[in-house]
Amino acid sequence: MAELFVPRALLVTGGAGFIGSNFIHHFLSAQPGCRVINLDLLTYAGNLENLKGVEENPRYRFVRGDIGDGELVAQLLLEEQIDGVVHFAAESHVDRSIDGPELFIRTNVLGTQILLEEARRHWNRRGGEPFRFLQISTDEVYGSLGATGYFTEGTPLAANSPYSASKAGADLLVRAYHETYGFPTLNTRCSNNYGPYHFPEKLIPLMIANIIAEKPLPVYGDGRNIRDWLHVRDHASAVEAVLVKGAAGGVYNIGGNNEWQNIDIIHLVCDLLDRRLGRAAGKSRELITYVKDRPGHDRRYAIDAGKIKTELGWEPAYTFEKGIEETIDWYLDNQEWVKEVTSGAYRDYYEQMYGRR
Ligand code: NAD
Ligand code: DAU
Repeated sequence: MAELFVPRALLVTGGAGFIGSNFIHHFLSAQPGCRVINLDLLTYAGNLENLKGVEENPRYRFVRGDIGDGELVAQLLLEEQIDGVVHFAAESHVDRSIDGPELFIRTNVLGTQILLEEARRHWNRRGGEPFRFLQISTDEVYGSLGATGYFTEGTPLAANSPYSASKAGADLLVRAYHETYGFPTLNTRCSNNYGPYHFPEKLIPLMIANIIAEKPLPVYGDGRNIRDWLHVRDHASAVEAVLVKGAAGGVYNIGGNNEWQNIDIIHLVCDLLDRRLGRAAGKSRELITYVKDRPGHDRRYAIDAGKIKTELGWEPAYTFEKGIEETIDWYLDNQEWVKEVTSGAYRDYYEQMYGRR
């Protein structure tokens, strides 16, 4: 194991999104000696409601801004004496990338390069002081698996969607900055997350929201595509482990060894919600509607998370049974949040508070 890296001032990008906000909640309590500066543009996916309770913390600061704004990034790195960057900010939804790839390239590739470059200059100015840049990535960069086998860190990149291609491009830039400049990077690649604050355009929260509202449940293709699900808080603890204990230049897969066919997960969520809502058994399954397949739809993802377990001692804490029940209860208790993020009402509030994008 490499020497421990204990950051004192961490720049988190995209910290108002699903995983970034869960990470900030986790990290502020796990690392009491560290300040967190959250740089987020507050796109449709960013929501400060996700950070309730954090905003009063004196070790936390929010800055609304773009990772592609080099001047702003340079200023923040300097004035906050940043010694670590955890880079979550991205356009994250595959379907949106199919509709319009350009924004994905701008944010995920060009934005990452600008952030990397400013961080590298800042690191240079700091001389030999310890520093880490952690790129948050996805198992989708590896492409699609057949019925057997797992993605390892050595699996060649073979992205199939504009989203995953943009993430693979960013991962290669991160690699290049390490190889070319010796910049101390880390790169994690995680499987599908689920849990609180998940935007209801993604499979699990969309199904929960539609079941509650008794709307159709759109199933792409034959519903037999496989995803490997991990609770978002387990992702947060894995990112912390990699930041603190990972070896510079390292790539770490993160996953929970928890493969599900989409249709089986949809059945499970339907049945759990029927019980919670007092509906007749099987009622919500009637909402299932098979629709046209996603173009280039990857068939199966499955992560081999052996390296992070062996080298850094990380393992998930959640069982899927517990995680999915808690997630369903969270959505039932937070229907107002779902309404707000889907109605766009909260955007007006941000425009007033932080100005127009
Ligand atoms: P998300 O869409 O919920 O959040 C993205 C956040 O980034 C939002 O708060 C948004 O406002 C912000 N953002 C977008 N463009 C920005 C810009 N130019 N400057 C500053 N902020 C900007 O995404 P998520 O699901 O939380 O994913 C976070 C990261 O984790 C992404 O890099 C994604 O590729 C990766 N990832 C996601 C999953 C998953 O299952 N959701 C799994 C593995 C990896
Ligand atoms: O694997 C990690 C990736 O997981 C992340 O990098 C992405 O940011 C994240 O969005 C997620 O990508 P997926 O494409 O796997 O997630 P999504 O929730 O969009 O879809 C999950 C599966 O469910 C996929 O096979 C498509 C299917 N699906 C999805 C939706 C939204 C449906 O059948 N119906 C739907 O309405």
